[in-house]
Amino acid sequence: MTKEILIAPSILSADFAKLGEEVQAIDKAGCDWVHIDVMDGHFVPNITIGPDVVKALRPHTKKIFDTHLMIENCDAYIEAFAKAGSDYISVHAEACTHLEGSIQLIRSNNVKAGVAINPHTSLNVLEYLLDKIDLVIIMSINPGFGGQKFIPQTLQKLRNLSAMIGERDIRVEIDGGVTALNAGEIVKAGANVLVAGTATFKGGKYKENIAAIRASANAGK
Ligand code: DX5
Ligand code: ZN
Repeated sequence: MTKEILIAPSILSADFAKLGEEVQAIDKAGCDWVHIDVMDGHFVPNITIGPDVVKALRPHTKKIFDTHLMIENCDAYIEAFAKAGSDYISVHAEACTHLEGSIQLIRSNNVKAGVAINPHTSLNVLEYLLDKIDLVIIMSINPGFGGQKFIPQTLQKLRNLSAMIGERDIRVEIDGGVTALNAGEIVKAGANVLVAGTATFKGGKYKENIAAIRASANAGK
């Protein structure tokens, strides 16, 4: 299924001292989704954003909130992130003992459900879940920090995932190391949502940066 390419800036690269303004700025600069990286200091070494911050950001934009949970014990927090205004909630296959149950929990909160997988994780974990999810996040870096280099083996993973998904209505998001230079080949391999933290926020020129990523992405279609 051909889908429009969406650009999802990660606010991990924003100025945390003025997050509301930053969200407004990327909205105005033409982003499609707002990617929110939630880290717990256990599943990944970093600690970032909790549900109260998501709730505080919600009035600042009408754009889709794409909440990426990089946390253990996610079931305890799914309802809070749903109530805070998330449109999508994604959990990590590696962090969920009962992944199917966590997906059901997300859906029961009337939020679209996603599964994120780390660079080393096989696509096999998704095989029996494909009819229950709306989004797959393919990590093209090891999660925890922005500004890392794209792992090139991810391109083959994207191609394999596209074949697995077939005509199902599932979005494929790539997360980590996306730039205006590699967006084209990433889209060509099958991604249709591009997370871009560093590449959006660098130099403060959000509009130009998003436009450059989008132009490269669309050239790869
Ligand atoms: C990392 C996060 C990513 C990250 C992407 O764990 O999931 O969303 O912010 O940052 P860049 O685009 O800088 O690689
Ligand atoms: Zn992310």
